[in-house]
This record gives sequence, C-alpha cells and structure tokens, in this order.
Amino acid sequence: MASLRVPIGRLSLRNPVLSASGTFGHGLEMAGFCPPSAIGALVSKTVTLRPRPGNPLPRLCETSGGLLNSIGLENRGIDAYLRDVVPAVRGADTLIVTNIGAESPADFAELAERLDGCDAIDALEVNLSCPNVQGGKLPFGTDPAMAARVIELVRARTSKPIWAKLSPNVARIGEMAKAVEGAGADAVTAVNTLLGMAIDWKSGKPGLATVQGGYSGPPIKPIALRCAWECARAVAIPVIGCGGIRCASDALEFLVAGCAAVQVGTWSFADPGALARLPGEIDALLDGASIADVRSIIGSVRDGLGPRHAAPSIARAEPRPVAST
Ligand code: SIN
Repeated sequence: MASLRVPIGRLSLRNPVLSASGTFGHGLEMAGFCPPSAIGALVSKTVTLRPRPGNPLPRLCETSGGLLNSIGLENRGIDAYLRDVVPAVRGADTLIVTNIGAESPADFAELAERLDGCDAIDALEVNLSCPNVQGGKLPFGTDPAMAARVIELVRARTSKPIWAKLSPNVARIGEMAKAVEGAGADAVTAVNTLLGMAIDWKSGKPGLATVQGGYSGPPIKPIALRCAWECARAVAIPVIGCGGIRCASDALEFLVAGCAAVQVGTWSFADPGALARLPGEIDALLDGASIADVRSIIGSVRDGLGPRHAAPSIARAEPRPVAST
C-alpha cells in the first residue's frame, strides 16, 4: 500500500481526497455513501452570516456535458450552523472545513470570528468565487485587491488555517493566488465553477431563472487543471485542485500538476459513493506504478518551465496545535 497522507499547511490529512463545498451537504448527510473516515476532509456547504433562501427556481440545469447551478448560497446561517451542525460533526473521524461566504469583507471577517472558537472546525475555506450572488459580478473572485482585503480581514479574526477558493472566471488566476497568499491565506482551492448558461431554443427560456450560473462537471476538468497548475506555479502555499474530477487518474493529474489534494464535487451527484472509493483507487494506481508515497508525485509535471515560485514573506497569526486524522 502506498502512503496517502498529505500535509496542507499545518494540517495532516489521511489522504488527498476531499468533498467539494456545496456537493456533500455539511458532510454527515452523506455518511451512508461515504464514511467520514474514508476521506481526508469534509468541506461544508457555504455558510453565511444570515439565513439565505437562495435564488428562484429553476436553479439546476443539466446540460449535455455538465451541470449548471444558480443555488445562490441557500443555507440557514451561522447561528443554525453553530447550533445544529457543529455538534454533529464534532466526532466525525476526519478533518472538518467550513466554507464561508459573504457579500462584504466585514461579513467575511465576522463569520471567521464566530467560527474561530470552534475546536471541531479545522480550517475555513473562504468562498471568494460564488458566481450566483451579487449579480454574478464576482467582486472578490476577479479583483486581486478585493480578494486580498477579504483574506486580510479574515486573517485578523481567526487563527485557523484559511483556504481561499478561487474563481476560474479570470484571465490570470496566478495573480489571484498570489494576492491571497500575500494576504495570509494558508492554501488555495482552485477552482469554483465557470460562468455558463443554457437556453431552450423552442421556448426561448433560459435553463436557469438567473439566466447565468456556475458550470461544473467532467467537461471543465482541463480548464480546472490549467488553473490549478497556474496557481501551483504562482504560489508556495498548497493548492487544492477542484473541477471535473471523477476518478483516480483525474485526481492524480491534479497532484502531478502541483496540487497537494483534490476536491470531488459534481461527480458525487452522479456517483455518491465515488469519494469513498477514490483513495483505494489512487492507492491501486500508485502501487501499479511502484510509487510508495503519493507526496512524491506532487508537482512532478514535466512542463519544462523550471522550479515553482519561491515563498513570499507573510506575517502569520500564531499557529494552533497540529490537527490530524
Ligand atoms: C451556490 O450556492 O450558488 C453555489 C456555490 C458556489 O458556487 O460557490
């Protein structure tokens, strides 16, 4: 058996397979398909300060190759999350990552502070990239200075590891990654969904009530892989790959591109048991290639471009003790 354990900053994950936010509930809803102990971490659906009803229906639309969504961050808000979800996930045998979303930097900061005291939560993933709120303008997902401002404020209010979830809807994602690294992020998640739309040509009706939404699923994998690779070349902090992954060889492509771990999202709707099987399937592929430690392939892409980026100096909050599963 190959060793699958990977570090993401000061966290140590039992394997590099994580759920992607918004596709796995808060985690335990899917325990029948995927025991938490099977994967490296559970990443929650986005939690906001106040409850959100989400966008009008229809807000899911299947396309010939992938899924469009415009959920609009429906959730019950931070009070309900702290009251109902945190006690439930406390004993889960894996790391717990809470994804947070907001429409202002101040609200992101307040969420970070509310979660900072929760010892059941191992890291915060900051959703800078939801395309289904604020009219799809992606203010924090497309402007490096705005993204950095959010991360700086979150950094000031929490000592938990901060993962910044980036949008693929930019020309130079490496610049976004550098901006959040400089502001104190401990890792980057690359990427959220692509802006897309569908139309029923007979009725003229768009597939989503909001017309445009986030496009995900296997067809976006080459784009997500390029984004993750670009981030890995741009920053020294770990990159967590996300986008279109559905099998072990997809996951290994992201690791070779430079990712420390991967998140599986839309594919869980098609095959809810995929996440639980993936670590074993990765192990089998590594064994078959006589690779004893998954860490040895991270960043091993032969892109002919020389060494990756050197670390910038970053003022960091005092670290908490190492959490591991
Ligand atoms: C949504 O709730 O609209 C999807 C979440 C996201 O894309 O960040």
